[in-house]
Amino acid sequence: MGSRPRRLLGHCLLPPALFLLCLLCSAVSARTSHGGAPKRQRNVTRWKGKAIDVGGCDLFQGSWIYDDAYPLYDSSSCPFVEPEFDCQKYGRPDKLYLKYRWKPTACDLPKFKGEDLLERLRGKKMMFVGDSISLNQWESLACMLHAAVPGAKTTLDRKDPRSSLWFEDYNASVMFYRTPYLVDIVQDKIGRVLKLDSIQSGSSWLGVDLLIFNSWHWWTHRGSIQPWDYMQEGTNVYKDMDRLVAFYKGLSTWARWVDSNINSSTTRVFFQGISPTHYSGRDWGDPSARNCNGQTQPLGGSTYPGGSPPEDAVVRKVLAGMARPAYLLDVILLSQLRKDAHPSAYSGDHSGVDCSHWCVAGLPDAWNELLYAALVL
Ligand SMILES: *[C@@H]1O[C@H](CO)[C@@H](O)[C@H](O)[C@H]1NC(C)=O
Ligand SMILES: *[C@@H]1O[C@H](CO)[C@@H](O)[C@H](O)[C@H]1NC(C)=O
Ligand SMILES: *[C@@H]1O[C@H](CO)[C@@H](O)[C@H](O)[C@H]1NC(C)=O
Repeated sequence: MGSRPRRLLGHCLLPPALFLLCLLCSAVSARTSHGGAPKRQRNVTRWKGKAIDVGGCDLFQGSWIYDDAYPLYDSSSCPFVEPEFDCQKYGRPDKLYLKYRWKPTACDLPKFKGEDLLERLRGKKMMFVGDSISLNQWESLACMLHAAVPGAKTTLDRKDPRSSLWFEDYNASVMFYRTPYLVDIVQDKIGRVLKLDSIQSGSSWLGVDLLIFNSWHWWTHRGSIQPWDYMQEGTNVYKDMDRLVAFYKGLSTWARWVDSNINSSTTRVFFQGISPTHYSGRDWGDPSARNCNGQTQPLGGSTYPGGSPPEDAVVRKVLAGMARPAYLLDVILLSQLRKDAHPSAYSGDHSGVDCSHWCVAGLPDAWNELLYAALVL
């Protein structure tokens, strides 16, 4: 993901703008009605994939607090972190960004226990599906598990699109499947076609016990890094369309795929919320900052001046419309507060300043702590 995803509101002409307004309204109302949900959501042993409440605690509302016990591991002793995310190895001079713990306002997160997670995964498979933000979270989890059981025998099979890390003693597989749009890109006579209503690679996700999906950043790509020439839905072919509308259509295809192919009594499905970028200091109330470069501390408090981007409303709208909604790993706000957590100039893979991905160790560890919390609480 070499590009710099941009804010999209500026691209919206009238019909997409109306479409968006409608999305925003329905997402807000979905949230509000959820907030008033009755106590049945307390029983997460029979969790159906929707609840955020754990005894009344929203895990994703909170703030970052300094904790000397962090980071959870030393990236230099993790064999699974790639240059792209290995900020310390590639010269990042500061370490304060490693020292923060996510603290939900109304409760404490359970301590991450890697051995316990592997035990829960015994004889099972879990898979992160999506773009390089999924890769980011997969590598973080690999490091967290390795730190918990450093002597465990592992086999890493790193391939495109499917990579797998197998923990032999647990017969547990922790996998990553790269498909940035979730829906298909096919080679056709007219060129490369992004098929908004087709999801052939879904067959590779069947039989996995725990799925964590993600998509967004590639929907904004244009020019030489746009990997398709046309979009297609049914028999209609488009040279381009409003990217939020396209995202809504593609994500809806994914949602229908989950509803008709996943047995919710045997498989848990998560959707990793939008991972924000930090390319304008104005978003966090510091107009003098050009981007995330040089940022060494998170924002305090529990609100983000830049507010919530429209793609977040698309995600909420699509999940709310599912027959069995995927659990939203709602990381957007807590990640927005982490303007300090990107590789910036210290990526071993991207030139320039990367304010899209995240250092490992770092923020994705918190995403995995939250994933673990959602599994055990
Ligand atoms: C939660 O649901 C399970 C299965 O339906 C039931 O056995 C258990 O007693 C419930 N726990 C609580 C605290 O209601
Ligand atoms: C290991 O786990 C897979 C499922 O991930 C299962 O099909 C296989 O039978 C297991 N092997 C053993 C030896 O338990
Ligand atoms: C889902 O899985 C359960 C447990 O294996 C099984 O009893 C049920 O028939 C499955 N449902 C469908 C629709 O396949």
